[in-house]
Amino acid sequence: MIRDVLKMGDPRLWRSAKPVEQFATPALHALIADLEDTMRHLDGAGLAAPQIGVDLRLVIFGVDRNVRYPEAEQVPWTVLINPVLTPLSSEVEEAWEGCLSVPGLRGWVPRWRHLRYTGFDASGRPIDRRVAGFHARVVQHECDHLDGILYPMRIKDFTRFGFVDQLFPDGGAGAAE
Ligand code: NI
Repeated sequence: MIRDVLKMGDPRLWRSAKPVEQFATPALHALIADLEDTMRHLDGAGLAAPQIGVDLRLVIFGVDRNVRYPEAEQVPWTVLINPVLTPLSSEVEEAWEGCLSVPGLRGWVPRWRHLRYTGFDASGRPIDRRVAGFHARVVQHECDHLDGILYPMRIKDFTRFGFVDQLFPDGGAGAAE
């Protein structure tokens, strides 16, 4: 079921979400199905449970080869629960981000370039990956939602934060969430 996505300003987006304690339950599978329906409907690259008002540490993400963003790297379709993120170097990379909770805007956001993330899938099986670049960025963006952080809070240069049609009058809006 497609759910409403909360927008920046809604106090539920500022919460620190609670760990998932039971895996492979009907309620958990229903939540994941709703997140997937909502993300695909809005053509997003990821979505976090708090964005639909569910106070749990669960994110989904995934990017297929997309004709609209031919430069975007493929990111495997993933359900990530109770994630732990660890930067693997001090290297930081900046790129454009958007967010379904901040519609119509883009910002230039610094993120760790090299990242290890661990957590669990919907069945409780462990996930442990080392990634870089766009994949690492998507994971950091989504997991920030679990701690009440939206990407504008990470921006350093506010001359590179604005409306898509103003920043990119010729198109090419960068990666959406
Ligand atoms: Ni977001």
